[in-house]
Amino acid sequence: MDPIRTILAEWTSEVPESEIRKLLKQKTKYYLAGGLPGNLPTKIFPEILRELADYYDSDEQNVINEFQYGPTAGHPGLQKVLAERLAKRDKIPGISGEQDYEKVFISTGSQQGTYLVLDILINKGDIIITPSPAYLGFVTACVKVGGHVVTAPTDEYGLIPEYVENTIVKAEEGFGKKVKLLYVVSDSDNPKGTTLPVKRREALFNIAEQYDVMILEDQAYKEIQFEEKRKPIKSFDKDNTRVIYASTTSKEAAPIRIGYNILPDELFKEAEKAKGYIDLCTPTLTQRLAEVYYRKYIDEELPKIVQKYKEQKEITYKALVETFPEGEYTNPTGGFFIWFQAKGEKAYTFDVDKFNQEVLYPNEVLIVPGGAFYPPKGSSYDEEAREIKPLKVIKGGMRIGYSFLKKELIGEGVRRLGKLLTEHL
Ligand SMILES: Cc1ncc(COP(=O)(O)O)c(C=O)c1O
Repeated sequence: MDPIRTILAEWTSEVPESEIRKLLKQKTKYYLAGGLPGNLPTKIFPEILRELADYYDSDEQNVINEFQYGPTAGHPGLQKVLAERLAKRDKIPGISGEQDYEKVFISTGSQQGTYLVLDILINKGDIIITPSPAYLGFVTACVKVGGHVVTAPTDEYGLIPEYVENTIVKAEEGFGKKVKLLYVVSDSDNPKGTTLPVKRREALFNIAEQYDVMILEDQAYKEIQFEEKRKPIKSFDKDNTRVIYASTTSKEAAPIRIGYNILPDELFKEAEKAKGYIDLCTPTLTQRLAEVYYRKYIDEELPKIVQKYKEQKEITYKALVETFPEGEYTNPTGGFFIWFQAKGEKAYTFDVDKFNQEVLYPNEVLIVPGGAFYPPKGSSYDEEAREIKPLKVIKGGMRIGYSFLKKELIGEGVRRLGKLLTEHL
């Protein structure tokens, strides 16, 4: 055996390379794979950088202060703007405006924020419930930290509260330990694009209270909404004890690696401690860029950006309806993705991974195969058997990302995908 392999930590052989990182290396004309934001405020960011340059030029002390290590939990200027926004737009309990800025935890992307949650909560074998399918950057991280992922079924609205409750009961019975964490992407989930109705949000909150399970609510797509915005699960958490709220600039502004999170007090302190050992602090310069954008520009820019994503989604959906073979698909009201899966048994047998590489790629199309949105190991709640079973993977599913490709190419790309699917499914 290669001597280097023998010294690597065990998780390195349990956790495979991310499917999406691999697909990001493949370039193609009709790129419907990675969820890269294609609509960014291209004129505004250079403008902000010029504004910041003037500020740094005006006094060298400004450079010394800001090209510097900053507080681990975030730069107060950014925390203040975000506290104000979280109070006004998201109605987060306990955040009434700028003055509550110290309750906003800045992370280096929400990827770091959700990883820190796992880092401080999960011991080997602890149970985490996730949707089936779920954001691969989270489910795989669960396995990396030693967690046991149990997936719960979803429909066209996302997690189904009754099945989540059954999953908790059966997992606790079967594995003899309490479920620790429930992961929910309430708005426009990745990969299915589903949005939870408010009734389901409330029901999930009540289930979490009843079974004493912490919820991690990932609101990555909360600002990319084509219809009215719904209140987050966090809004039911009046005492800030049950729901960890994770959000990010990545989709609504740009992936400048800034996440913003609200955590129960005790968890905030532990996350701050853990972050100290990971990166000491998020770079101040990017936080300053975000601070100015959120203070002065976002309210004007965001509706224009959302409108573009909406058009991209509509083109994708129309082409899908016109050209795809029989199957199940979502019609998202926000976010970056549509999900399609083969009908019946083929949802579990059709090898989309092979289809992607051997058929789509040579035809200049790429999507992300459904199998990517599952942990490398884990269990699933089976709604028919009403039991926990070995991990059940919808590998006959696919995520179609409409966020990056120019409007002019999307319809053509999705129609080509539909034609090839009809020939091969
Ligand atoms: C649901 C979800 N959560 C979190 C992230 C990570 O976002 P960030 O860029 O802030 O790390 C993503 C990115 O694709 C995502 O889709």
